[in-house]
Amino acid sequence: MNVQLVRGMRDQPPEAARRWSYVETRFQQVLASFSYEEIRLPLLESTALFSRSVGENTDIVEKEMYSLRDRDGESISLRPEGTASCVRAGLQQGLLFNQVQRLWYAGPMFRYERPQKGRYRQFEQIGAEAFGMAGADLDAELLQLCAAAFQRLGVADKLTLELNTLGSAASRQAYRDALVAFLEPRRGQLDEDSQRRLERNPLRILDSKNKNTQGLLADAPALADFLDDDSRAHFDDLRALLEQLGIDYRVNPRLVRGLDYYTHTVFEWVTDALGAQGTVCAGGRYDGLVEQLGGRPTPAAGFALGVDRLVLLHEVAFPKWQSSAVDAYCAVLDPAQRAWAMALCQRLRADLPALKLRVHSGGGKLKNQLRRADQSGAVCALLIGEDEVNDNRVTLKWLLRDQPQERLDYESLRERLRASNLQ
Ligand code: HAM
Repeated sequence: MNVQLVRGMRDQPPEAARRWSYVETRFQQVLASFSYEEIRLPLLESTALFSRSVGENTDIVEKEMYSLRDRDGESISLRPEGTASCVRAGLQQGLLFNQVQRLWYAGPMFRYERPQKGRYRQFEQIGAEAFGMAGADLDAELLQLCAAAFQRLGVADKLTLELNTLGSAASRQAYRDALVAFLEPRRGQLDEDSQRRLERNPLRILDSKNKNTQGLLADAPALADFLDDDSRAHFDDLRALLEQLGIDYRVNPRLVRGLDYYTHTVFEWVTDALGAQGTVCAGGRYDGLVEQLGGRPTPAAGFALGVDRLVLLHEVAFPKWQSSAVDAYCAVLDPAQRAWAMALCQRLRADLPALKLRVHSGGGKLKNQLRRADQSGAVCALLIGEDEVNDNRVTLKWLLRDQPQERLDYESLRERLRASNLQ
């Protein structure tokens, strides 16, 4: 028998890989525009790194890690996530002490989960981690960054931001005790998974999809009632900032996340366009983790984007998307307009640095120039003739979209291209 792909792994043939590169590059451009710097991290780490950070009693560490003994007998694991590695590297490279850092990484992660659409055993994340900033303004910045990237990729209208706070480590512990005290006498009514979690990771019960369990939880103590003043102030501050920035969100008091290191803010960007695996990006604050891994107390927060899921969402939003070297093709009707056209296009390139704009060279009939534009794969053509120059306007003709032709002044043209994500 031929050797086949390992279950849960995926190939990305060239056509799919083009969309991947596009999505990743756009997201990374936004990270750079917020001044985040890339850090490269290894795929293999000591198993102990993950049990001490993600948590001994989480699904990830209990049953999803690819762990093995190397030839010296040390237990090592393929990384199931990037935050723990990033903190380890930050400590080991001396990046965290008394400093502010904004970092990002990208690459494959590995979890032995049951594969289905949107859930794979090797999947890609782009993660961002920021260190040394305790204020809610940093939490808001991370969310603003995500929102900007989703906007840029044209998928913002398909995503909803869910937000919660877990409070400080102390308030979380107090809540945990209260929840266990409430659920212990009702143990028999819980689903099997939740019974198991009652000892090991009771907060995760809030996440249960089981209807009976959810019903039972309706009367359970609420996390919000256990927050101390500082935790509440942090959350209120974040909410006010998001409102001022015009970033919509929904507070989900049941959002607890499946990793142990979170404190205060937690969030998920979710969609209903992908079926069961609807969380596209997730993260939060983890003020205790640096210290837990041997550093000085250092506030920190971050998120990881599931690139596989973002690519799936992009496919839903733009099924006919094709990558090409050209976004916009400028046709020049007469040699007399060449310099005017070239100068205008150069202004557009300067204003929209990612726009791929080609000016037709060599003259010829409009029909032939438009055929070249079609062949180039451009989404739109800019038509410039005598009338346009006299009017100081440009005719915008969509080639791949069903939208009417328009004659626009420079500013309107630029904004139309920007709004169409051709930037
Ligand atoms: P996470 O929620 O475990 O968080 O993963 C983040 C994202 O990775 C998920 O929302 C999802 O999009 C994607 N993902 C996770 N598992 C799979 C899978 N099996 N197949 C496809 N996609 C998957 C973390 O990993 C944290 N390190 C996030 C973070 C960073 N928190 C603070 N900083």
